[in-house]
Amino acid sequence: MAGEVIYELKNASKRYGSVIALDGASLKLHAGEVIGLVGDNGAGKSTLVKVLSGAHQPDGGQIFLEGKERVWGSPREALEAGVETLYQDSGLAPHLTVSQNVFLGREKFVGGFLGKLGFLAKKEMDHDAHRDLEAVGIAVPSSNRSVSQLSGGQRQAVAIGRAVAWAKKVIILDEPTNHLGARQAGEVLNIIKNAKKKGLGVIFISHTLPHVLEVTDRIVVLRLGRIVKDAPTSEFTGDTLIGTITGTIQTIKVEGD
Ligand SMILES: Nc1ncnc2c1ncn2[C@@H]1O[C@H](COP(=O)(O)OP(=O)(O)OP(=O)(O)O)[C@@H](O)[C@H]1O
Ligand SMILES: [Mg+2]
Repeated sequence: MAGEVIYELKNASKRYGSVIALDGASLKLHAGEVIGLVGDNGAGKSTLVKVLSGAHQPDGGQIFLEGKERVWGSPREALEAGVETLYQDSGLAPHLTVSQNVFLGREKFVGGFLGKLGFLAKKEMDHDAHRDLEAVGIAVPSSNRSVSQLSGGQRQAVAIGRAVAWAKKVIILDEPTNHLGARQAGEVLNIIKNAKKKGLGVIFISHTLPHVLEVTDRIVVLRLGRIVKDAPTSEFTGDTLIGTITGTIQTIKVEGD
C-alpha cells in the first residue's frame, strides 16, 4: 500500500523551440509506489524526467517534494534533496573506475590534514561502492576496474546501482533495462521492487510493456507531450496499454486536467 504523496508535478510545460515536448503534465508519486511512464518515441518521457530531476527548467508548472514547492536550479539540488535519476544515456565516465563512478560528484576525502590537500579516500570508496552495489543486488567484477572494461549490461548495472544506492526519497529510471539480457533485466525489476519496499517513490520508464505491467502500481501514458491516461496498472491489459499509447483507444480525462 502506497503512502503519502512524496513528489508532485503540476501543470508542467516545456518547449524546445517550436516543439512542445511537454504540455501541461501533472502527476503525483506516493512513497512506496512505482509509476510506469510510457509513450511512443518522442512522446515527452525523457523531457518529463529532466524536469523532475532538475536537468531542465520547465517553462511553466510547479514541483512539490513532500508538499513543499521546489524550483531546481540544477540536478545537484534535486539530488541533495533525495531525488535520484538514471538518465536514458546513463552518464557513466568510461575512463573512471566503478567506484569513482559511484561516487562521482560526491567523492570522499581522507580526514584531517590530508583531506585539506584533496586526497581521495580511494580504498574507502572502493569498499563502499562494492558494498552499496551488492546491497541493491548488483554484482560487478571489481569496483576498481575501469568502466570501459565492463560489458554494456554491467555498465548499466553500475548506473542503476549508483542511483538506487543514493536515492533517499525518489528514484527516476529512464529506460533502465535497455541493452540488458533477460536475466539482467529481471534483476533490474527486482531492484525496483526492493526500492518500493524501502518506501521510495519510483518512476520507471520503459518500452517493454510486460515489464511495466509486472512491476508498477500505476501507469501514466504520454502522447505528444500530454498525459492522456493515469490509472492503476490493474486496469490495463497488454492490448489496452498499446492502444492507449498509440491512440487507437480513446482516453478519458485524467486527474489534474
Ligand atoms: N534538447 C532538445 N532539443 C530539441 N528538441 C528536443 C530536445 N530533447 C527532446 N526534444 C524533442 O522533444 C520531444 C520529446 O522528446 P523526449 O526525449 O522527451 O521523448 P521520449 O518520450 O523520451 O522518447 P524516447 O522513447 O524516444 O526516448 C521530441 O519531439 C524530441 O525531438
Ligand atoms: Mg526518452
